[in-house]
Amino acid sequence: MSRRRQIYEGKAKILYEGPEPGTIIQYFKDDATAFNAQKKGTINGKGVINNRISEFVFTRLSHIGIPTHFIRRLNMREQLVRQCEIIPIEVVVRNVAAGSLSKRLGLEEGEALPHTLVEYYYKDDALGDPLIAEEHIACFGWASNEEMQDIAAMAIRVNDFLVGMFAAVGIRLVDFKLEFGRLWDGDYARVILADEISPDGCRLWDMVTGEKLDKDRFRRDLGGEEDAYQEVARRLGVLQEDGPSEVADLSHHRKLRGKN
Ligand code: TMP
Ligand code: ASP
Repeated sequence: MSRRRQIYEGKAKILYEGPEPGTIIQYFKDDATAFNAQKKGTINGKGVINNRISEFVFTRLSHIGIPTHFIRRLNMREQLVRQCEIIPIEVVVRNVAAGSLSKRLGLEEGEALPHTLVEYYYKDDALGDPLIAEEHIACFGWASNEEMQDIAAMAIRVNDFLVGMFAAVGIRLVDFKLEFGRLWDGDYARVILADEISPDGCRLWDMVTGEKLDKDRFRRDLGGEEDAYQEVARRLGVLQEDGPSEVADLSHHRKLRGKN
């Protein structure tokens, strides 16, 4: 059907060549994976919701001066973004102990950390995205020291903003993952925020009940992932103006107990 050239297919998104040079179309799939794709499944409507949530978050981040790849949303599942060279580092920001941090250091999940932690993982599926130190990044030239300063500063600013944004809708931002890219201008590259920000790459807990509203529902076989993603979108106010749509179709399996 489509005559667009596919550039790359990832676990949750497909990238197509964009309409102008230097642009890319990000298509959000419903596919979900966990544990380095050892576990695979589908979360119905996830692509539609993540496209919306990521648009919402990236737009707000650009308003506070964070440079991002986001240009505009094109339709239910696609957004136009600036083409950039992805830096092969996953940047994880943590406010509360959970997931691999809890496991690695024997911390109880839910324990607030004395201060925000920024961790780096080397983006390599074959190696299972290992935890790395800034020393490794410098040693192997994955990013320059200047780029790392920009990345760390942006990660903290993004965290400060997102913690407040989610708290305003009753959600605790436990941790999340960011990816950055290089945008070349002649010989000079600047670092911009890339990829997506959505419940796929964040831990989001209801502030009152502690209920998980993110991909941990899928990772841990808790069920109710469609409702959880939809609840995040609803609280952020990103679902209203859809007419007959895939999102509207989801509303019959919606019902997050006791939520209003
Ligand atoms: P972790 O506790 O498993 O290291 O995950 C930390 C955060 O990073 C969590 O919010 C989920 C997100 N994340 C991804 O987005 N992609 C990944 O591949 C992993 C391992 C984590
Ligand atoms: N990105 C992971 C995977 O490779 C999924 C996750 O735990 O977020 O499947």
